[in-house]
Amino acid sequence: MLKIQNLRKVYQGPGEDIVVLNDLDLEVQAGDSVAITGPSGSGKTTLLNLLGTLDTPSSGSIEIADQEVSSMSEEDRAGFRNRSLGFVFQQHFLLPQCTALENVLMPRLAGDWEESEDVTRERATSLLGELNLGDRVEHMPYQLSGGERLRVAVARALINQPKLVLADEPTGSLDPAMAEKVADLFSTLNESSKATFLMVTHNVEMANRMGTVYALESGRLEKKG
Ligand SMILES: Nc1ncnc2c1ncn2[C@@H]1O[C@H](COP(=O)(O)OP(=O)(O)O)[C@@H](O)[C@H]1O
Ligand SMILES: [Mg+2]
Repeated sequence: MLKIQNLRKVYQGPGEDIVVLNDLDLEVQAGDSVAITGPSGSGKTTLLNLLGTLDTPSSGSIEIADQEVSSMSEEDRAGFRNRSLGFVFQQHFLLPQCTALENVLMPRLAGDWEESEDVTRERATSLLGELNLGDRVEHMPYQLSGGERLRVAVARALINQPKLVLADEPTGSLDPAMAEKVADLFSTLNESSKATFLMVTHNVEMANRMGTVYALESGRLEKKG
C-alpha cells in the first residue's frame, strides 16, 4: 500500500541546512493502522506533508497504491490527493459559513468527482451518523464543540473513500477523554472503511491504539510495537 525508500528532506535555511528526514524507509500494508511518534520538531509534519503530496522530497521515493507520487506533475498530484487521500489536520479548517454536512461535501467541489451529488450526500449523512453527529448535520461550526468539529473533519476526510488517511496530531487540542474517543473512532473506522490509517502524534497512549507504532528519531523510523 505504502512504500517509502531512502527518503530524505533537507530544508535550506538562512544558516546551516536542516536535515529533517535522513534515509527513511517505511512499508505499510493495505488496511493497517500506523502511528508515528516523536517530539516536537522531529519531522512528523514534514513526513506527513510528503506523504500527502503537499511537498516534495529532496531525494528518495514514495509509492502509494503502486504509484510513485514524488515524480508526478503538480496537476496529477492534485488529482491523486483528491481521489485517494484523506487528511485530518491539527487545525480542522472547517468553513465557518457552511453547515457540518456542507463541510463534509466540500471535497466534491474540487473537480473530477464521479458520483452524483445525491449519492455523496447520502454517504456524508451516514458518515456523520456513524460519528455520532446525526443530530448535528445542519449545525454551523460555531455551534459545535471541539470534539464535534474534529469529527466533522474526519467525515470530510473519509468522504472520497480514500485509500490512505493521513492525520497530523488529530487530538492535539482535545481533552484526554475526548482524545481517547477519537483514538477509538480511528481504530473503528480503520476496520470498517478498510482504509489504511497513518497518524502522527506526540501522544504515546494514542499511538498505542494503532496497529503498529514507530518512533521518528534522527530522521529515521524505528519500530516500537
Ligand atoms: N518550511 C520549512 N523551512 C525550514 N525549516 C522547516 C520548515 N518546516 C519545518 N522546518 C524545520 O524542520 C524541523 C521539523 O519540523 P516538523 O516536521 O514541523 O516537526 P514536528 O511536526 O515533528 O513538530 C523543525 O526543526 C522545523 O523548524
Ligand atoms: Mg507537527
